[in-house]
Amino acid sequence: MTMASEAPAGTAVADKGDVPRHVAIIMDGNGRWAQARGLPRTEGHRKGMEAVRRIIRHASRRGIGQLTLYSFSSENWRRPAEEVGFLMGLLRFFIRRDLAELHAENVRVRVIGEREGLPSDIAALLDEAEVLTRANTGLTLAIAFNYGGRQEIVGAVRALAEKVARGEIGPDDIDAEAIDAELHTAAMPEPDLVIRTSGEKRLSNFLLWQAAYSELVFSPVLWPDFDEASFDGAIEEYNARERRYGGVGARQGVR
Ligand code: IPE
Ligand code: IPE
Ligand code: MG
Repeated sequence: MTMASEAPAGTAVADKGDVPRHVAIIMDGNGRWAQARGLPRTEGHRKGMEAVRRIIRHASRRGIGQLTLYSFSSENWRRPAEEVGFLMGLLRFFIRRDLAELHAENVRVRVIGEREGLPSDIAALLDEAEVLTRANTGLTLAIAFNYGGRQEIVGAVRALAEKVARGEIGPDDIDAEAIDAELHTAAMPEPDLVIRTSGEKRLSNFLLWQAAYSELVFSPVLWPDFDEASFDGAIEEYNARERRYGGVGARQGVR
């Protein structure tokens, strides 16, 4: 991760037309989309999958370096078993149907989240996707599946505690970079922009550490309706922001 090393000491003003390097999306509102149409929630998820394909293609064409999609949270196991089963099936379907095409489009697939606890065939499919696309140099697509930010931080802290216990490092070696290196996102850039759809304004355990200085854009659009124009609108909003990282705004000038 690049938090400690790359966050500028001063400020950065995005140029017009710039694209953020890393966009992360909390894809929310599938259930409400379906409910509004008198359909079962699962139909919303099915429709949401079309939005996933559309946005991956668009992000890739726009030259985004990394797109991270929050697909299933550690807390989503609390949903009815039928819905959980449907979401697992949808991931299977997505990898089986789209992996070859993603590979052909030079997309590198990464998966963040706990593999443990997932059906074994899904864990194997996720491995396959990562291995097949490992050397690709286009868009990095990070699928956050069975992902929870707190769980990820707990895992990193434990790994570091074990290193201390084995005498490999001392307590003073634990800094932001050491924690970064133990996260699922190790070596990935931080999200510049986090988008949440459906009008909810919370992070719901998504990239808690990594989003420390991300710009947040909340869109009222329900995920199944999120399209290229909605994505571009969020990028435009991002480009109008001034990132300060705790410094003084460059637009204000320093006097
Ligand atoms: C997002 O849509 C998809 C997942 C969390 C897997 P929801 O299923 O949360 O939809 P709402 O929030 O109930 O409308
Ligand atoms: C966040 O949405 C998780 C995903 C989009 C995968 P939720 O719908 O689960 O979040 P809450 O429950 O509204 O906070
Ligand atoms: Mg939701």
